[in-house]
Amino acid sequence: MSEQIANNVSESSLPSTQQPSSFADIYHSSIHNRESFWAQQAKRIYWHKQPDKILDDSNLPFAKWFVGGETNLCYNCVDRHLPDRAEQDAFIWLSSEINQELIDTFPAVADAFSDLGNSVEFYTDYTKRRLTYNDLYKEVNYFADVLQRHGVGKGDRVIIYMPMILEAAYAMLACTRIGAIHSVVFGGFAAHNLAIRMDDAEAKMLITVDAGLRGGKIINYKNLINQGVEQANHKPEHVLVVNRGILPFKAQPIDVDYATERRISCDANATVDPVWLESNEPSYLLYTSGTTGTPKGVQRDTGGHAVALTTSIDYVYNGKAGETFWTISDVGWAAGHSYTIYAPLLAGMTSVMYEGLPHRPNPGIWWRIVEANKVNILFTAPTGVRMLKKQDETWMTRYDVSSLKSFFLAGEPLDESTASWLTEHLGVPILDHYWQTESGWPILSHAPKFNHKPHKQGSPGYPMYGYDAHVINEETGEPCAAGEKGLLAIAAPLPPGCLTTVWRNDKRFISSYFNLFDGKQYSTSDYAVVDEGGYFHILGRTDDVINVAGHRIGTQEIEEAISTHPEIIECAVVGIADELKGELPIAFCVLRDHEQVKSTENRFRLEQQIVGAVVKSLGGIARPAAVYFPQALPKTRSGKILRRSIRALAENKPTGDMSTLDNPPAIDAVKQSMKDY
Ligand code: PRX
Repeated sequence: MSEQIANNVSESSLPSTQQPSSFADIYHSSIHNRESFWAQQAKRIYWHKQPDKILDDSNLPFAKWFVGGETNLCYNCVDRHLPDRAEQDAFIWLSSEINQELIDTFPAVADAFSDLGNSVEFYTDYTKRRLTYNDLYKEVNYFADVLQRHGVGKGDRVIIYMPMILEAAYAMLACTRIGAIHSVVFGGFAAHNLAIRMDDAEAKMLITVDAGLRGGKIINYKNLINQGVEQANHKPEHVLVVNRGILPFKAQPIDVDYATERRISCDANATVDPVWLESNEPSYLLYTSGTTGTPKGVQRDTGGHAVALTTSIDYVYNGKAGETFWTISDVGWAAGHSYTIYAPLLAGMTSVMYEGLPHRPNPGIWWRIVEANKVNILFTAPTGVRMLKKQDETWMTRYDVSSLKSFFLAGEPLDESTASWLTEHLGVPILDHYWQTESGWPILSHAPKFNHKPHKQGSPGYPMYGYDAHVINEETGEPCAAGEKGLLAIAAPLPPGCLTTVWRNDKRFISSYFNLFDGKQYSTSDYAVVDEGGYFHILGRTDDVINVAGHRIGTQEIEEAISTHPEIIECAVVGIADELKGELPIAFCVLRDHEQVKSTENRFRLEQQIVGAVVKSLGGIARPAAVYFPQALPKTRSGKILRRSIRALAENKPTGDMSTLDNPPAIDAVKQSMKDY
């Protein structure tokens, strides 16, 4: 670390402890005095060079924050804390998948840990690894050294396809340290998803593992990566493999063994200087589903991202340096990026990373982890909670969870019964809040730090500072009155930390998000309503995106996978309500020869093949819960499939106006197909 940086560290402010007057003042200032508000927040991070201008809004909707400022995300997450908290845990990693039984079956698993350094504690039913900021500094430097020695540098794209292990965090931080742009792909995705992302990002390197584990089931990551590489047009130069000792594999010519390379870096005590990036240079890409079959590469900047996340820990989550934050989300999702990796570290907190299910080895595992690690703030999606709700309730009270200040939920609607059940059993505030991959941090929330408004169960809260959010009439763009349903929109400029564009596709950024009225409103693609008290309520998506267990999936992606089946001429996939997972995809497929389904045997074969095609292409999360075979699909006169009507039919609800329908008998065909089942 250079002298100059070290000096600056002691002067630089960690998250401000100065109490602002009120949330109303903060909100007002963030909208009406944007530059001075964010200039103040920018002091929370270290700048190698101070910004010349706080906001450049001359080319909206492309907003540039902290223009001319130079910083480094990894430096702010790691190095900056060394003077004050080198021996504090940066991460506590827990895996209920790596248990005694697994180690007995695969002894190489334990060896792999000793090879990768750091203290590991093995218990009968889980494994724990603690990592101080000092340890993290070393590991991230080794990882960055390995990347550099393999030709990865500033601006190169690196795909990370890993389960919830610490090496995923090192990989992300190492990329941002050297200015490489990471793109983490959710482990539940299959080879096709990987190939699409490899091609769009033109990834130079892939980072993966031999295998992941889910409820004791082995997931062959390496094989999926190999298939992805085979399918992709743009081939990576190297595949860096963290071998966990779970699944033996045959190394490919482009494979690089991480443990061997790490040893070289470790023996050399390698350190890698952070690469200072201009605030608007990209830090990462995170692909998310939209209305077309091709996911969008949400592009995040560097300085705005660091400032926004650090501020959110203080103002939204009421977290403090030294406290423990646990986000139960896969690292491949926005919540994992923002609140398992970046935000807690930016704020000097300890972050818990968990590999495992909510009810394994038993439904008390979350609360046991909270107790043992004195977790202060918990964040997850409602699905996991709904899973626990089905289990023996006494698990909820066996552990001391008094360290918890609040429990935040997001990613899908939080139903009243789950919220009340949780409140009753945990006795801590259960705070629903709303945001998106695109925003990277909460758009609507309650802000417990400020006592701004009483907490209202059933609402994700009110707009957070920086978001000029309104519910507007879809047709006119006029603000809706209280109680009137409309589109949740945010007036440009979006605050720091939100997506700056779609990777290499400015046009798609505009057409996907800013195609309303005068192009000055960001569309969330969610319907909402504001009640008399000013609390917002989310009423569902305006597009064909569905939300399965908090996972966002474009129905068109599933339709494309199904359409590869030679016997299908067209299909429609819709999401239907499900008590546990929120929504489930179901498929309506029109066959070339409808007679086929008259034989039960044939119908079964077709169902299996269709479900198989989806799982193979997109992974298990997209698996259709049912496949129906109508003779036709209802369409408008312009040929657009009426998915909303099909969904209504599937849920036994009114289909609405059918006067524009091109083929009315198709409605009966859809109804009949469900009866045939
Ligand atoms: O439809 C909204 C729903 O999830 C979408 C965003 O999903 P994703 O990009 O995966 O980001 C998740 C980040 C936590 C939104 O457009 N959604 C998110 N939070 C809520 C929600 N729906 C209802 N209530 C929420 N609290």
